[in-house]
Amino acid sequence: MTSTDAPSRSTDPVTALPLLDPAPAFRDPALPIAERVADLVARMTVEEKVGQMLQLDARDDLDDLVLGKHVGSILHASPERLDRAHELTAQTRLGIPLLVGEDCIHGHSFWEGATIFPTQLGMAGSWNADLVERAARATAVEVAATGIHWTFSPVLCISRDLRWGRVDETFGEDPHLIGELASAMVRGYQGDGLDDRRAILATAKHFAGYSETQGGRDASEADLSPRKLRSWFLPPFERVAREGCRTFMLGYQTTDGVPITLNEWLLTDVLRGEWGYTGTLITDWDNVGRMVWEQQIQPDYAHASAATVKAGNDMIMTTPGFYRGALDAIEQGLLEESELDAAVARILTLKFELGLFEDPRHPDRERIAAEIATPAHRALNLELTRRSLVLLENDGLLPLGGGFAADATGRARAGSAPVVGESDATRTVAVVGPLADDAQTQLGDWAGSSGQAGWLDGQPRDMITTVLDGFRRFAPDDWTITHARGAEVLTLEQDPAGATFPDGQPRPQIVVPSAPDETMIAEAVAQARAADVVVAVVGDVIELVGEGRSTATLELIGGQIALIDALAETGTPFVVVLLASKPLVLPPSAHQASAIIWAASPGMEGGRAIAELALGLVEPSGRLPISFARHVGQQPTYYNQVRGQHGTRYADLTQSPAWAFGEGRSYTEVEYSDLVLESAELGAGDVVRATITLRNTGARPSRETVQAYVSDTVTSVSWAEKELKAFRQVDLEPGATATVAIELPVAECSIVNARGERLVEPGDFELLVGPSSRAERLLRAGFTVVE
Ligand code: NOJ
Repeated sequence: MTSTDAPSRSTDPVTALPLLDPAPAFRDPALPIAERVADLVARMTVEEKVGQMLQLDARDDLDDLVLGKHVGSILHASPERLDRAHELTAQTRLGIPLLVGEDCIHGHSFWEGATIFPTQLGMAGSWNADLVERAARATAVEVAATGIHWTFSPVLCISRDLRWGRVDETFGEDPHLIGELASAMVRGYQGDGLDDRRAILATAKHFAGYSETQGGRDASEADLSPRKLRSWFLPPFERVAREGCRTFMLGYQTTDGVPITLNEWLLTDVLRGEWGYTGTLITDWDNVGRMVWEQQIQPDYAHASAATVKAGNDMIMTTPGFYRGALDAIEQGLLEESELDAAVARILTLKFELGLFEDPRHPDRERIAAEIATPAHRALNLELTRRSLVLLENDGLLPLGGGFAADATGRARAGSAPVVGESDATRTVAVVGPLADDAQTQLGDWAGSSGQAGWLDGQPRDMITTVLDGFRRFAPDDWTITHARGAEVLTLEQDPAGATFPDGQPRPQIVVPSAPDETMIAEAVAQARAADVVVAVVGDVIELVGEGRSTATLELIGGQIALIDALAETGTPFVVVLLASKPLVLPPSAHQASAIIWAASPGMEGGRAIAELALGLVEPSGRLPISFARHVGQQPTYYNQVRGQHGTRYADLTQSPAWAFGEGRSYTEVEYSDLVLESAELGAGDVVRATITLRNTGARPSRETVQAYVSDTVTSVSWAEKELKAFRQVDLEPGATATVAIELPVAECSIVNARGERLVEPGDFELLVGPSSRAERLLRAGFTVVE
């Protein structure tokens, strides 16, 4: 079948397809892109148009993908298969370049030897948009060199249920923090624009509300009203849409019975209409097929494909059945061929804007050698990782030995601790626990060994510093570092429902927690008794993280609790290092620890940064981007919950989180005082301006994250008691005082009313400023917004 509106021209006698002009207009870079697109669309057969809308898995039969289905895009291509896909593309009639996508979400995840940063949640612990932007820029440079044009990052989902398996992929629980960091990440990826060869396309995902799953179950119904979406879930997306993020990926969820793939209100009215988004939309993995085989809301692929096109989707990720389905839909009169054109034109526009017709940006061996994991990228990774760590508790044991200065190699210099005498004596540190030396687990999900790519089995061991490595390399050289694993975490069993889902995708295996092992515990206990300090490294492993791997519990799995119980009984002071993709619930024995550090899947430099922090070579400065629960039954524990309920607690447990959004300790104390508003009466177009005084009252430097929340005293609808509106980071030397200016537009002090309109309601407000979201840590100043 050929396109009915294709210009008449001579045809190939064998295939009966139109022969190409020797110099078609779409190949002329001097012509405006719109003209080139129109020329090319007019030349395409209906099969080529349907194929152009497809992004298929490069691990499948590439000949079928490129020559049989005319795919416009591929993902998950190993280096070898990427080369093959380009060879095949060169054989196609029109030679339309492929758009190559990959999940490079905290570094170039599936490139052996690339820089793997902390996960997004880890990055969010830094509360530092500049560092996040630089990490995204470094990632883009590494990714672009390898011939990948498009990363499926950042994730803008709001994590409110910690049981969800993908909390690690998010920036946490707060829309303002998410917006700041996502915007930075998009800038970093997209660099100087689409014609920047060292930049890549960013993707805002998963549009919108995917994380609001029921019971934390992945991809279940997200029970969200339009008003709730507008209140908290849409603002980060709106921000990056308006700032030029070029692609949006839809989630898996249905909302109010409608899968996002068909949600015309969100896709057409809000995204393309209100926000003026002109970029490309991509579905998530097999969203079209899932409407047939899983959600059972479409009778067959023809209907599902027709509905998907009509709803304004552009690129269909990994539904091979869309190819036949869309063609059948046209044959059956469910869809007009011309209805494909808008999507095809948007995809082609993107390819022309990237300049792929002139330079298809194939892998560049020289740039790969020069730009992957450069010393500058690795140094940036170390800096971001240091800043991502959150010190949750410390009774003064940390920094060990009173804190050290580094020698020229970065190692703690023996004798350099300020405290002399016993606390600086040669020490033995027992680094124990199943995660103390598990290099690949430390990288988290969407990294070399996390299972999404079949062509590599982890990142090079020598690029990763585990916690054990970190202590061995960075503790003073006269210290003794011992190690025992102490516990196993889990084993796997095949799900009785079968090894695959109906669409052929692998079904995650079932986790069987390992029983405590008395011999392993005894070995760890013996080492603990012989040591001055124990560092217990516990947490979660990849089988408990990711898509389809939500957890019913938040406790440490396997033999880990018994291990901590036994370590606590030794009486040796201990530090818990929680290497966990998301906030977990710690057992009572862990709360006996002298110190607790959270490292959210910290990436390649994790072990070094943790050891440095414990030794006082760097100062702790991370702050929680998400609250920690005390018990799984407390879900949700996010700080900006809507006010109004009977009481403030459960009968059997407080509702207060173990550690709240924004919390994190330093090795010093900082006093906040004198919150002063410049003006207490403001109009809607004004800016709230205030100052607050900080004083470092301790003996070590601090990097404070000054957080400003706003509380609207009376609202026309129920609303959050307070919301983060601004934050600033300030360095304070011991004894130093600083006056910090806070500014936020009154327009930010808005709510979404019962009609779903965002507006500032005049009346009384409070500005709350302090070091965390905990009410008792915030200073307050009232102001009034007048009509
Ligand atoms: C499904 C995930 O939900 C999405 O985040 C990812 O980008 C795609 N798979 C591609 O791997």
